[in-house]
Amino acid sequence: MDEWEKKNKIIVEDLYDKGWCVLDNYIPEEFRKELLKEQRELLMHGQFRLAGIGKGESFAIKPEIRSDKVLWMDESLLTPLQEVYWNKMEKLRTAINQRCYLGLKSFEAHFAMYPQGSFYLRHLDQFQSVSYRIVSVVLYLNETWDESDGGELRMYYTRPDGIEDFQDFLPLGGRVVVFLSGEVPHEVLPTNKERISITGWMKDRE
Ligand code: OGA
Ligand code: MN
Repeated sequence: MDEWEKKNKIIVEDLYDKGWCVLDNYIPEEFRKELLKEQRELLMHGQFRLAGIGKGESFAIKPEIRSDKVLWMDESLLTPLQEVYWNKMEKLRTAINQRCYLGLKSFEAHFAMYPQGSFYLRHLDQFQSVSYRIVSVVLYLNETWDESDGGELRMYYTRPDGIEDFQDFLPLGGRVVVFLSGEVPHEVLPTNKERISITGWMKDRE
């Protein structure tokens, strides 16, 4: 088993057992830095747009709910670096299918940038118009991050005694968070500085 397969195995087992996983150093530092650099260049070219809620007819920009900016990846126009990311995600998708039988058929992803002061209120990644999102994968690219920077990902879960609890995770560079899109409510707390990530979804249809 190579390094990637080992990491994927950890994720897949956690996903199977509890529906989510947080794993540090998922990608090598060198790769993270390159991805970050490329994403910063895209940002400088002004291609990011305010993110919306919903899809198609129900799409709406609601900065009172989420105030991040995103740029969708186009599978047919990937840079060599983005292709490496995409291939890693395809490997993870295969590993999840083998263990969890989720029938994941395809992948979509966007670059995300939360400007200072932005947030994303509690939500599920699966809602009526995007019920095909089954597994969410958030990969953080930030150079440095500490408690005072805010911007935690808050993950809600139900304890064995039935009471809801949550756990907060800093968006540390190289950290990946994987969870069942329709089952794990989560939110992004207000960030005190620019917060950069790539978010992807594995879908049960093409
Ligand atoms: C999302 C989301 C979490 C994060 O894009 O739907 O919840 O930590 N992102 O960036
Ligand atoms: Mn989300």
